[in-house]
Amino acid sequence: MEEPVIIRFEHISKSYGEFCVLHDFNLEVMRGEFLTVIGSSGSGKTTVLKMVNGLIIPDGGKLFVDGQDISGTNLIELRRKIGYVIQNIGLFPHMTVWKNIAYVPSLLNKQDKERTKKAVARLMDVVGLSGDLMRRYPSELSGGQQQRVGIARALASNPYILLMDEPFGAVDEITRKMLQEEISRIHKALNVTTIFVTHDIREALKLGTRVLVMDAGRIEQLGDPDEIIHHPATDFVARLTQSRGLE
Ligand SMILES: Nc1ncnc2c1ncn2[C@@H]1O[C@H](COP(=O)(O)OP(=O)(O)O)[C@@H](O)[C@H]1O
Ligand SMILES: [Mg+2]
Repeated sequence: MEEPVIIRFEHISKSYGEFCVLHDFNLEVMRGEFLTVIGSSGSGKTTVLKMVNGLIIPDGGKLFVDGQDISGTNLIELRRKIGYVIQNIGLFPHMTVWKNIAYVPSLLNKQDKERTKKAVARLMDVVGLSGDLMRRYPSELSGGQQQRVGIARALASNPYILLMDEPFGAVDEITRKMLQEEISRIHKALNVTTIFVTHDIREALKLGTRVLVMDAGRIEQLGDPDEIIHHPATDFVARLTQSRGLE
């Protein structure tokens, strides 16, 4: 049987000079879960996320991804199996939507163009992009459409982990709601382990099967949305959940 824990932080620490971002940080992410990470700005959310794909290396402790200590793994290989979506997604501006999404599949199926075509069509369908957009350039898309292309590109290598860092931070409220529905649907359909960072408590509670609340590099609470709402572990969590609907 596959080990249920897919990512394990063990006594992880990280400092910049005198400033300690994470101190004795411990976390287990379960295979297939949708973990949302919420906390104040500077609390270490992005640091935690970027450690999973080796963009930030811990100073101390151990980090296991799929049973492997990542200090001993090839980070390029690791990243190939991990999708990464950020706010301003960095689509290739001189490439069409089709080429942006086809980039990874065409590397994988060098000899088989039909296979790439099929993969791109499937990915566009998965993220809810209509086929007639495929010849457009990123600058000819709305913010929400660009974000969908970014998600399609992140899914193109069939990742077993999807990391998302405030992916819907730059889109309007209506688009954000649609993208939230979309990412929930994608998660259910593909069952890909997802870590989703947000600073919006409503988004965290809506999307997460579990929610991790952080403040100043520490875990304030880790629990399902119901526990977070009804049994806040600290004043910080209580204040956070009370702020729902006040914005
Ligand atoms: N390269 C860096 N050099 C110095 N300090 C950094 C660097 N990267 C992040 N930090 C600091 O580490 C803290 C945590 O950053 P981050 O994980 O990006 O927070 P969050 O994503 O929760 O807003 C912040 O106080 C930030 O200023
Ligand atoms: Mg951040």
